[in-house]
Amino acid sequence: MIDHNNQEEYRDPMNYDLEFGGETDKYEFFLEMAKKHSGQVLELACGTGLVALYLAERGIPVTGVDIMEPMLAYARVKAKDLPVTFIQADARTFESEQRFSMIFLTGNAFQAFLSDEDQRALLQTVYSHLEPGGVFVFEMRNPDGNDLTDEEEESWGTFVDIDGVTVKVSGTQTYDASKQIMHWVTIRDWGHRQTTSRIACRFTDVKTLQQLLKKQGFILENQYANWDQTAFQSSSPLVISVCKKG
Ligand SMILES: C[S@@+](CC[C@H](N)C(=O)[O-])C[C@H]1O[C@@H](n2cnc3c(N)ncnc32)[C@H](O)[C@@H]1O
Repeated sequence: MIDHNNQEEYRDPMNYDLEFGGETDKYEFFLEMAKKHSGQVLELACGTGLVALYLAERGIPVTGVDIMEPMLAYARVKAKDLPVTFIQADARTFESEQRFSMIFLTGNAFQAFLSDEDQRALLQTVYSHLEPGGVFVFEMRNPDGNDLTDEEEESWGTFVDIDGVTVKVSGTQTYDASKQIMHWVTIRDWGHRQTTSRIACRFTDVKTLQQLLKKQGFILENQYANWDQTAFQSSSPLVISVCKKG
């Protein structure tokens, strides 16, 4: 089951975009992938549609699925008349008649699937909605390339919010090695007020991921360390996997 605490990060979609948007190199990577595998595209855990809308604005027909209605509501406002449909559903149980030439997850959303069962359910959704030969693309943080030790509150940076206010972001991390789950607490400080939100993310090692993908019927085509398609190495902080439906 998804830890319900994970919803706390997704209550403020406009500021979500200002804090996390603007990753043009990533958007271009998914655009290139979508053009290469032309057809219908599905983004699972699409949030406010940062990537789905980038693709739709460039003529790619996209369906976005997310569990959090507030994120989707904002995605729909931004979508206007673009060739994009947003559906509220759980990626573990989502069912559609439609088949897709590319399915992707991003924003490390794969790590929101906290148990083996949830990961399998997600991968089954992906598998059953891909056309034969369709491609599945997603990234996650690599446990071997990240510091998983517990950390007291430290500064993580700033962002400028919808009112032009600079918000200081800090947080703590606590790692549960037995479940491979990182618990982050994020503190956002507006000066006159603070918010605290919790999120849990699973860290799956790359070898286990490769075995899981194979078991679920995917053929791993490439693993990259970055959106510029640098080859993955065992200590890369990020691993982007590109797989085909076998
Ligand atoms: C870090 S955000 C990424 C959003 C978007 N992909 C992006 O890159 O901005 C993770 C998203 O996963 C969604 N999510 C978590 N569990 C989900 C599930 N079981 N089914 C569908 N969406 C889910 C959350 O609601 C959230 O919008």
